[in-house]
Amino acid sequence: MPLPRPFVGGNWKMNLRLASAVELAEDLHAALSSQPTEPAIDAVVFPPFPYLQGVGRALGHGPPALGAQDLSAHEDGAFTGQVSAAMLDDLDARWVIVGHSERRHGLAEPQSVIRAKLIRGLEADLKVVFCVGETLAEREGGHAERTLVHQVRSGLEGLEAAWFRSIVVAYEPVWAIGTGRTAHPDDAAEAHRWIRQTLGDLYDSGLAAATRVVYGGSVTAANAAELFSRPEIDGGLVGGASLKAESFAAICRAAATRVS
Ligand code: PGA
Repeated sequence: MPLPRPFVGGNWKMNLRLASAVELAEDLHAALSSQPTEPAIDAVVFPPFPYLQGVGRALGHGPPALGAQDLSAHEDGAFTGQVSAAMLDDLDARWVIVGHSERRHGLAEPQSVIRAKLIRGLEADLKVVFCVGETLAEREGGHAERTLVHQVRSGLEGLEAAWFRSIVVAYEPVWAIGTGRTAHPDDAAEAHRWIRQTLGDLYDSGLAAATRVVYGGSVTAANAAELFSRPEIDGGLVGGASLKAESFAAICRAAATRVS
C-alpha cells in the first residue's frame, strides 16, 4: 500500500504581529510555490485568529493552505470569545487543530469538549488535526501507550469511517513541545504504531494504514528528514520552526522527498 500523502502543519501559536504574519505568509507562499509539486504534500499554516484574514489574502490559493488553531464546539450563539466553524469557513480556513496539549493540559480542556470540537469541525467539512500525547510523568511511569490508546479511543471511537480522510492524528509528546527535546525517531515510530494499532482495533487495518499520523515536538529543519524517513511518520506538526519561512520550507521539502 502506498504511504499516505505527507502533511506538514505550522502552528504559529500566539506569536507574530499582523505585519510579520503577512510577511511570513508571503515568503512561505513564494518558497513553497517554487518547490517541485510532485510528490505533493499538504502544507498548512495555523495563524492566530485575528490574522487569519490577512494571512489568507497573502496566501491566495496557497500553498500553504490556511488553518485555525481552535474552534468552538458550538454552532452559534452566546459564547463570548469563541470562534465557530462557519466563521472559519468564511475566512477560507480549511483546517483546524483540536486537542493540542496547550489546551488539553494548559487550559484543562476536557476530552468531551475536544471530541465535540472534532465532530463540529468534521461536520462543517473542515479537516482536523487531532493531537494526542503523553506527559513526561506518563512516559517515565511506563504509561505512554495506555495514555495514547485512551486519548485516541475517547476522541475517535465511533466516528464515521469516511471522516478519517479528513483527520490527521498528531502524536505530540507533551515533554517534547517547545522544549528542544525531540522524541527519538524510534520512540516516535513506536508511538505511531500504537496509535495505528488502536485505529485498527476500532476500525480495520486498511483505515489504520491510510490515516495520516504525524509527529510534533521540537521538529526542526535539522531533524525532520530523519523523523520522516520512518514509514510510520507521515509528516509533522511544527511550532517554533514554523515561524521562519526557510526552516518551514525545508521541513516541507523533507516531507516531500520521503515518498519519492
Ligand atoms: P514545537 O511545537 O515545534 O515548538 O515543539 C510543536 C507543537 O506544539 O505543535
